[in-house]
Amino acid sequence: PRPIIIDTDPGQDDAVAILLALAAPEELSILGITAVAGNVPLPLTEKNVRKICELAGRPDIPVYAGCARPMVRRGVTAEHVHGRTGLDGPDLPEPTMALRPGHGVDFLVETLMAAHDASITLCMLGPLTNLGMALVREPAIVNKIRDVVLMGGGWRETGNITPAAEFNIHVDPHAAHNVFESGVPITMMPLDVTHKALTTRQRVDRFKSLGTPVGTAVADLLGFFERFDEGKYGTDGAPLHDPCVIAWLLRPDLFKGRRVAVEIETESERTMGMTVVDWWGVTARPANALVIDQIDADGFFDLLTERLSRFR
Ligand code: BDR
Ligand code: CA
Repeated sequence: PRPIIIDTDPGQDDAVAILLALAAPEELSILGITAVAGNVPLPLTEKNVRKICELAGRPDIPVYAGCARPMVRRGVTAEHVHGRTGLDGPDLPEPTMALRPGHGVDFLVETLMAAHDASITLCMLGPLTNLGMALVREPAIVNKIRDVVLMGGGWRETGNITPAAEFNIHVDPHAAHNVFESGVPITMMPLDVTHKALTTRQRVDRFKSLGTPVGTAVADLLGFFERFDEGKYGTDGAPLHDPCVIAWLLRPDLFKGRRVAVEIETESERTMGMTVVDWWGVTARPANALVIDQIDADGFFDLLTERLSRFR
């Protein structure tokens, strides 16, 4: 299986992404999960990761707490989307599995430095602070990373937290800048694709009809999650952002995109965290990311439903 590290700020959609990864042991080997401040503060995101591992029956997964705030700017949270806990919706028990000692950034650096060159895939589901910091702490990790697959940014669908910027990039634009300038191969799942992966009533009902604890929890998570977005974009259901990252690793054939140059806005307050995507190649900048803009949404939800049905 392909070795991966998941970096995340759960978040209902992060939770579904983690479950999808845990449901793919033949394809993915999860070396660890690092939590970051994002949708809610770090003490909640790290706890939410442990709640999800326990829901999946995987208290053995190493979970680390990473950075509690962005590199330069003050933190921004999104309780208006995810609720006070970040995982509002289902009533998940308090986790009993322990957080691993040590800092998430140290775990990233140590795990990468001990690995073969170009061997580890980093799945980034929140603000990019932990990876941005790891790149500063030990630039040599670049050689160890096979690729970074991240949910963030937007091209035509420019923003959701501001008119110009998507949440994950807006929260820590300096970390995002470090990642996009690092030279690591990047696959980016922007709003352009996630706004095509919508949690329609019918799709959520399929999770519920699995009749398992995971199926019910996912239906309850998504039932809460869509309250914020439903109707807002003139669509039925909310964008299921983060699971696109894991689905890409399992079924790249479900997606289409283009290799282009992406820069991060870190100066203008008005457009802070905007991803400036050179889709039409109007600059001479070399491509640094595969930007995905198309998804077979039915295929994606079929994959999710089938995989989540494997939890009994
Ligand atoms: C991203 O921000 C968070 O609210 C979601 O978990 C997702 O990672 C979408 O902009
Ligand atoms: Ca997230």
